[in-house]
Amino acid sequence: MPTPDTPGTRRPGGSAVFAGRTVSRIGYGAMQLTRLENDPDQAITLLRRAVELGIDHVDTAQFYGNGFVNELIREALRREDEVLVVSKIGADADPGGAVHLRLAQRPEELRASVEDNLKSLGLEQIAVMNLRRPDDRPGLRGEGDQAVDLDDQLAAMTAMRDEGKIGAIGLSHITLDGLRRAIPAGIVCVQNAYSLLDRRDEELLSLCLAEGIAWVPFFPLGGAVPGLPKVTEDPAVRAAAETLERSPSQVGLAWLLHHAPNVLPIPGTAGVEHLESNVAAGSIHLDDAVMATLDARRG
Ligand SMILES: NC(=O)c1ccc[n+]([C@@H]2O[C@H](COP(=O)([O-])OP(=O)(O)OC[C@H]3O[C@@H](n4cnc5c(N)ncnc54)[C@H](OP(=O)(O)O)[C@@H]3O)[C@@H](O)[C@H]2O)c1
Repeated sequence: MPTPDTPGTRRPGGSAVFAGRTVSRIGYGAMQLTRLENDPDQAITLLRRAVELGIDHVDTAQFYGNGFVNELIREALRREDEVLVVSKIGADADPGGAVHLRLAQRPEELRASVEDNLKSLGLEQIAVMNLRRPDDRPGLRGEGDQAVDLDDQLAAMTAMRDEGKIGAIGLSHITLDGLRRAIPAGIVCVQNAYSLLDRRDEELLSLCLAEGIAWVPFFPLGGAVPGLPKVTEDPAVRAAAETLERSPSQVGLAWLLHHAPNVLPIPGTAGVEHLESNVAAGSIHLDDAVMATLDARRG
């Protein structure tokens, strides 16, 4: 699915087709902007810089800061920026809760969450909406009325697509079986945890590649939460970075781009310098020897 760059355009990591649109392979995951709740101007500056750098797909959710991140995106991005905004449903913010998140899996909850997203983003349609399932690590598990059959959810998602409220359907935290079941509904992307150090979903990635589905992994650097292996701390990544005179995070992102053509990383950051560094990772070439060394670092 990568496509040649149109002459005169500058797309970080090159171009790929995502939900029928040509976008930069490197996108931006906006979850880290919740850390800028006391500095929304800095968050807007970062989003504008992302657009300037050629990023044209952004991942968000209503439950990132209970609408805060969506509202930042609404304020920062203009229609003429032509940024593909990808959101997710299946959970709601739970500000008082232990993990600030609770599942909202029932079809009527999915519909209510789409309406919340449309309102906070100020859009008539969400270009891509990921259904965040509770099937796959890490995080919340669906029990009681939150254990909802995938087919019932897909019926709700396709109805909302038919109505034009969402442009396309993606899946998150999905299993291999779940993806196989969902493919006939028309799936444009999968968003599961995946990085150089966490490759448990390799089979899912291969199925996506075969089906022309974008693989948009979250935690491409190992995430910000403690306890997950951090790509930037891996000895082989650090050694390659030193040889290439690049940073470890850049090597980790470059590996994702080299690994398969349908990988569209969405690294998250709350800092402009890291954003610029992540975009620059799109122009790094890793030769076969470096790739072989990094490939050996299987999670
Ligand atoms: N579907 C889901 O359930 C789900 C779950 C989690 C996340 N997501 C999405 O996926 C996106 C990416 O995941 P993530 O943000 O959690 O994890 P990530 O991109 O793997 O890592 C983010 C962490 O890496 C650091 N970082 C970023 N760029 C760096 C650089 N150039 N040098 C050094 N450190 C750097 C960030 O710190 P700084 O802020 O200091 O740069 C932050 O601590 C999220 O933003 C969100 O949009 C989706």
